[in-house]
Amino acid sequence: MKRHTTYLLTLTLVMLATASTFAQNGPGFGRGRGPGGGGPGFGRGMGRGAQQHGQGPGGEHAGDDRHEEDHVVFQFLLENHKKIKRTVKELPNGVETLTESDVPEIAAKIKEHVEWMEYRVENTNPIRMRDPLFAEIFKHTDKIKMVHEDTDNGVKVIETSDDPYVATLIQAHAKAVSGFVERGFAEAMKNHPVPGKEMTKPSEPSHPIIANYGAVVKLANAAQQPRPGTKLLVDLTKGGDADKLNSGLEKVARYLNIYAGGGAEPADAQIAVVFHGDATQLVLNADAYSAMFKTEGNPNLDLLHQLHEAGVELYVCGQSLISKGSQPDDVAVFVDTAVSALTAVVNLQADGYAYLPMAK
Ligand code: HEM
Repeated sequence: MKRHTTYLLTLTLVMLATASTFAQNGPGFGRGRGPGGGGPGFGRGMGRGAQQHGQGPGGEHAGDDRHEEDHVVFQFLLENHKKIKRTVKELPNGVETLTESDVPEIAAKIKEHVEWMEYRVENTNPIRMRDPLFAEIFKHTDKIKMVHEDTDNGVKVIETSDDPYVATLIQAHAKAVSGFVERGFAEAMKNHPVPGKEMTKPSEPSHPIIANYGAVVKLANAAQQPRPGTKLLVDLTKGGDADKLNSGLEKVARYLNIYAGGGAEPADAQIAVVFHGDATQLVLNADAYSAMFKTEGNPNLDLLHQLHEAGVELYVCGQSLISKGSQPDDVAVFVDTAVSALTAVVNLQADGYAYLPMAK
């Protein structure tokens, strides 16, 4: 009997401790509150940790148990966008909106959506953070006042801010929502710019390091910026018309220009080119080239020279060279003859160069 009482006491203590843990740090952003007092979605969210959404800690929606449910509601609203009516009145400090549907199920989802979005704004629990406008809004939630009132068929919202900049964000957001209502998924797939920070047009093409070849545009805010210390090995076997510049070689010029000026900052890159196969004879000096192809000089020499001046290592495969009827002496002075393309490629990769084949 005594044992039984101890067991019951222990069990009660464990349950109390568990309940208080949920109340203080409930998984997800519910934290014991939420529209409808644990209404749709929230109740279900309580028992699930963020990891169970397949996105471990640190993922965009880590700790956000409501994300899944909100997503389902967005999808539903976007699918039914044609059955939604919306008017937006701009106020000096924000907007007044009315969003309704004659279909009761859709009207109910609009109400659910707005309640949860208001909750997200109040609790700074962001969503759609890839979209610049939404990311910006969630940076300023402390300055947003959002009040909603259910109507028979939907919701009337008054959203304002004392901060004039935030008021413009609210107005831009209201336009985005009107876009969702008008165009559904087509609009939802678009980015919405932050007012005043519309994407600057990419610069005109330029040649930051290799003149006249391989023009690039500067994309200072784009993903995958050039990384300093890059080592790149171009395995060039692409042929072409003997009297024209080899297009693979021009790509090498573009790579240099990208590292020198395509990103936000110039990044030093060590580039090596190994010529073999159909590209072997690109590196012949003017006399040897003219004699072999009956041209007036070698149309690749000017660019090869610029690449050399910019620090690019140029290697031709000795085996290919000789088998195609030339000698190391026939090669332009700034190109080195390697024992073979094989050894050059293997050695350079062992030295940490990333391998980039260029056969087409
Ligand atoms: C047809 C589809 C949609 C409708 C009818 C709708 C409706 C609404 C309404 C009425 C508001 C209150 C603010 C206002 O009226 O301007 C609102 C706010 C919000 N909506 Fe939606 N929405 C839709 C789609 C989406 C989507 C796809 C997302 C994100 C993925 C989204 C995220 C938000 C957020 C974050 C807020 C609160 C932020 C704020 O108002 O500043 N909505 N939505």
